[in-house]
Amino acid sequence: MAIRQLRTSEEEILRKKSKLVKEITPQVITLLEDMAETMYDAPGVGLAAVQVGVLKRVVVIDIGEGLIELINPEIIKEEGLQRTKEGCLSVPGMTGAVDRAEKLTVKALDRNGNEFSFDAEGYLAVAIGHEMDHLDGILFTDKCIAVEYIDDEDE
Ligand code: CO
Repeated sequence: MAIRQLRTSEEEILRKKSKLVKEITPQVITLLEDMAETMYDAPGVGLAAVQVGVLKRVVVIDIGEGLIELINPEIIKEEGLQRTKEGCLSVPGMTGAVDRAEKLTVKALDRNGNEFSFDAEGYLAVAIGHEMDHLDGILFTDKCIAVEYIDDEDE
């Protein structure tokens, strides 16, 4: 496992659409493991492959309830609306309020290539929505009501 370099929003790659994973190769498994290590090191609660420079539809999330690995995730149902404050490892120094679904159902492949689906709500639904946007080149700053700049001196 290795910590990979985080890409930031000035880099063109963050705006590109990630590609479906056609085959779960050993490289994809290494990617998943490196992404988790990079996320925990940052620390962050989610990471999409594009954030480490790989245009594959791969996401890791851990909001403190255990690691979730998603390959080719799709949101198959959305319900309600919630407004929360978001930040992003690729947009350092900024936060902002974003409206997202309150509840959603996600379908994805696990690292063995088995399809699974689950329901998420609250903060987990926010994290999933945020990471899925990365797969389509969308950043939270595109959706947020007002950006706030964090002054590190005051943190
Ligand atoms: Co992000």
